[in-house]
Amino acid sequence: MALWDSRFKKSLADVALKFSSSIDVDGKFFNEDIDGSKAHVQMLMKTKLVSSNDGKAILKALEEIRKEISSGKIKFSWRDEDIHSLIEDKLVKKVGERGKRLHTARSRNDQVALDERLFMRKEITNLIKLTRTLQNTLLKKAQTHKGTIISGYTHLQRAQPLLFAHHLLAYISMLDRDAERLNDCMKRANMAPLGAAALAGTSLSVDRKYSAKLLGMNGVVENSLDAVSDRDVMIELISACSIVMMHLSRLSEELVLWSSQEFSFAQFDDSFSTGSSLMPQKKNPDIAELIRGKVGRVYGSLFGLLTIMKALPLAYNRDMQEDKVHLLQAVDTTKDCLHLTSELLKKTSFKKDRFEKELDGDLLLSTDLVDYLVRKNVPFRKAHNIVGNIVAICVDRGKKLNELTLAEYKRISPKFEKDIFKLLTARSSIQNKKSLGGTSPKEVEKQINFWKKVLKKA
Ligand code: ARG
Repeated sequence: MALWDSRFKKSLADVALKFSSSIDVDGKFFNEDIDGSKAHVQMLMKTKLVSSNDGKAILKALEEIRKEISSGKIKFSWRDEDIHSLIEDKLVKKVGERGKRLHTARSRNDQVALDERLFMRKEITNLIKLTRTLQNTLLKKAQTHKGTIISGYTHLQRAQPLLFAHHLLAYISMLDRDAERLNDCMKRANMAPLGAAALAGTSLSVDRKYSAKLLGMNGVVENSLDAVSDRDVMIELISACSIVMMHLSRLSEELVLWSSQEFSFAQFDDSFSTGSSLMPQKKNPDIAELIRGKVGRVYGSLFGLLTIMKALPLAYNRDMQEDKVHLLQAVDTTKDCLHLTSELLKKTSFKKDRFEKELDGDLLLSTDLVDYLVRKNVPFRKAHNIVGNIVAICVDRGKKLNELTLAEYKRISPKFEKDIFKLLTARSSIQNKKSLGGTSPKEVEKQINFWKKVLKKA
């Protein structure tokens, strides 16, 4: 028996019921559904739509149902249609006619919208926690690599030397914006649609604010049509997850590159590496690659949900039942990947001395020479040009910047003096990047201290 079938002469065909059943997905919201129902019945008791005795019996039975689902005593079947129908059915079996009062002034439309918001509220908190954990892992790595010099790239071509800590700190900033976005999403997620009923509100005297308060929500979604048909918050959450995943994918890509023999910078622990079934020598970075690959699921969910919602007339349409698949896929994948990135990083070592020697005198110090000339009052564009000529000579002769003589430098510009050679080490290049937020040890230390404080409070 469905919740709605008394006006029909025939019951829903099995193929149609199986096709339309959503319990395999919304069964995961049973806790939220029970929490929502408890708040609803308490509100009905307060407004005298349900007697205190009936209400108490319902509340008690709902808790029993929660236990029975948790312990596996109640099993889900597609015949149950959805979690809301299943719980109401079990309730009526437990408390008889009294249970039939639970759905007073409620529709599954506002019920499911509430369940989803309660679920998002819980998962946003989990996502923020995992983001903070990863930030802490990155911060620890940054502290061990305060002195490690790497090459920085633009276009994946050597650009300027960097402290590795500085590079890691960039990811901490990215993840911080992710946490901010999630926090912002929380404000809108934590609003109650309950009491909007099917779409129009109700003629019964409900107290929407009371049930919202019981659930610890910030307020109610006022417009009843909007309350049941809005999935904006879910889209926001999945898009916030998509940005998190984009960040994780960029980091994973760098880890993959750094672990290659060509870079020889990162070394994954054996416990986070895989081999080849054919090539015995292989040690592959599969975990990082999978994190990079799983972005597809989350972006897929974002587009999936945007597509479902596009052109839906107000208010509820059954299409919207498909939203939960995407919500779960996006949230589960993002949580997994945040966790795995943190675990992988903890187990990855980076060679402290991989770059420094190689970068001393390297052409990536050219900008330091330009700045030198600018400090000697040469206009920037001219200085750029002069150093460009020096680079051309080095490239022609296969030499590093520190392998030309002062005489050779002077031939290009008399402004060059002996002191340029002091500038031509990776370390001095780093030391000199003292501008705010730059890669000098002092600025990097400042950033580390800043994040230490922020993350302690977070
Ligand atoms: N299982 C449904 C969903 O997730 C619940 C709402 C059903 N509402 C309805 N009018 N058929 O969307």
